[in-house]
Amino acid sequence: MPTNQIDRRLSIAPMMDHTDKHFRYFMRLLSKHAVLYTEMITTGALIHGDRKRFLEFNQIEHPLAIQLGGNNPANLAECAHIAESEGYDEVNLNIGCPSDRVQNGQFGACLMSNTELVSDCVNKIQSTVKIPVTVKTRIGIDEQDSYEFLEKFVNTVSVAGCNTFIIHARKALLSGLSPKQNREIPPLNYERVHKIKQQFPSLNITINGGFTELAQIKSQLEHVDGVMVGRAAYQNPFMLVQADKLLYEDDSPLQTREEILGKFKNYAVEQIESGFNIKSLTRHIIGLYQGQSGARKYRRMLSDAIPKELNACQYLDKVIQSVSRTPT
Ligand SMILES: Cc1cc2nc3c(=O)[nH]c(=O)nc-3n(C[C@H](O)[C@H](O)[C@H](O)COP(=O)(O)O)c2cc1C
Repeated sequence: MPTNQIDRRLSIAPMMDHTDKHFRYFMRLLSKHAVLYTEMITTGALIHGDRKRFLEFNQIEHPLAIQLGGNNPANLAECAHIAESEGYDEVNLNIGCPSDRVQNGQFGACLMSNTELVSDCVNKIQSTVKIPVTVKTRIGIDEQDSYEFLEKFVNTVSVAGCNTFIIHARKALLSGLSPKQNREIPPLNYERVHKIKQQFPSLNITINGGFTELAQIKSQLEHVDGVMVGRAAYQNPFMLVQADKLLYEDDSPLQTREEILGKFKNYAVEQIESGFNIKSLTRHIIGLYQGQSGARKYRRMLSDAIPKELNACQYLDKVIQSVSRTPT
C-alpha cells in the first residue's frame, strides 16, 4: 500500500457541475493547502469521451484528486492509470451518489451493499497505480444503516487496499428521494464517523456533511483526520480565507476579497483567450461577497449580460471596481 502523504485536514468536495477546473482554481486562491476534487467522472466518459476536457487542470491545483464513478475493476484501473499519467495525486471512488442515473449504472451509493465488488475495484486500482486510492461513501443505505454495516464495509474495503475513507455522515435512501433531498433529509450522524476513526485509528478518516464554518471544522479535527466541505465552499467561499492559518498554521497574510478577485481576473482573462466562455468562469465566483452589503449588486453584475462595448478584461475590471467602492 503506498504511503499517503497528502495532508487531508481540509478538502473541497467533488460536486457535479460545480468543481470544474475554474472553480478549483478559485478554491486554490482561497487555500493553498486544501485537497481539491474533480466532479465525478464515469469510467465510460473518460474512456470514450473528451478526455482532455475531463482531465485538464492547472498546476496550481495540486493536491488534486480525480473522482471516478464506475463498478468495473478493469475500467476503473484503466481510468486511474490515465489520471495518474496526467499528474493527479489521488484516485477517489464514488460510493455515495444515489442518483437514478448512477443507480441504473449500478455504481455510486448502491455499491455499499456489495463490499466484495468495491474491494475488487479498490484492489485492481491500487495494484495499477502508485497514487493513493480513496473511497467516498455514506454511513449507510436504506435499511442497511447500522454501525456494524459501516464497520464491516470499512474493514473489508481497507483490507483490499484503501486506507483513506471520506464519509458523508448521513445515509442515502436509494428510492423516493432526489440527490438534493439525499443531502438534506437523512439526518447527520457525526458520532458514527468519529467511532469509525476510534475503531480504525490507522485509517485516515475524513468527515463530510453540513460544515459551514472553520471553527466547526477545527473542532472536528479533534475526532477525525480531515473535513470535507461541499456546498458552503461554493455558496460562501470566503469562509475559507482563514483556513490555511487556522487549520495548517500557515502564517501567510490574509487576503481580501478584492485581492482574490484580482487574481481570479488574471486567470479568467487567460482562459477566455484560450477559448473558454466568460460565464463559465464568473459563475463560480458569485458567492464571494455572500453576506456583504455589496453582494446583491455584485451578483447582478455577474449574472447580467456583458455590455457589448467591453471586452472580458474591461468587464472584469468594472466588476472589481464596483465592489471596491462598496464598503465591506
Ligand atoms: C451540486 C452538487 C453536486 C455533487 N456532486 C457530487 C459528486 O460528483 N460526487 C460526490 O461524491 N458527491 C457529490 N456531491 C455531494 C458532496 O460531495 C457532499 O458529499 C455533500 O454535498 C455533503 O457535503 P456538504 O454538506 O458540505 O455540502 C454533490 C453535491 C452537490 C451540492
